[in-house]
Amino acid sequence: MKVAPSVLSADFGNLQRDVEEICNAGCDLVHVDVMDGHFIPNLTIGPVVVSSIAKAATKPLDIHLMVENNTFFVELFAPLKPEYISFHIEEEKHPHRLIQKIRSLGIKPAIVLNPHTPPESIEFLLQDLDMVLLMSVNPGFGGQSFIDTVIKKAARLNEMRKKINPNCLIEVDGGVSDKNVVVLKEVGVDIVVAGSYVFNHQDRKAAIESLQI
Ligand code: DX5
Ligand code: ZN
Repeated sequence: MKVAPSVLSADFGNLQRDVEEICNAGCDLVHVDVMDGHFIPNLTIGPVVVSSIAKAATKPLDIHLMVENNTFFVELFAPLKPEYISFHIEEEKHPHRLIQKIRSLGIKPAIVLNPHTPPESIEFLLQDLDMVLLMSVNPGFGGQSFIDTVIKKAARLNEMRKKINPNCLIEVDGGVSDKNVVVLKEVGVDIVVAGSYVFNHQDRKAAIESLQI
């Protein structure tokens, strides 16, 4: 299991220190939550702060867009050369076109599904994706409880990707801890995002390692 700590739960007064710490602790990706205050009821960070994160990070960035105007934000963040940019299927009229655009910028495209969105909704996009991110909380805030219907959804998506695109990774985001990482691994999840579990832990390296099963 790969681990992408969410910097949403970091100390923003000590962002460089916290990003360096999780990278030195052996995380696999750095998960960056971008919220615009329109798609969801919270507002986070833009390219100025994300470029500081990119400078401090020695691991690739995994940018999770929770915004209304996806194309605008893809263009804004592309110069930072993240590994992944993921966008919500619920907020995109032309997902196929946007996937192609992200790939043309040299970035791996990913789609995010909210807790209510079935994996079948992206059946005809799966062949063009590098990753699908399943939300296991309603997007907007760190520290929420894990919604366990994501387990069944991940299992279904795992079956779909085996047939359509075995190279497409499955990532789960929200309420992840050592309590649910085992079952997520069993149903085929490849990457977990963990915010509060990692950053609230006294020993962040131990927290990361406890998820790398
Ligand atoms: C929620 C974000 C998550 C969040 C995860 O909208 O997408 O990445 O920061 O935080 P935890 O792990 O605390 O649920
Ligand atoms: Zn996220």
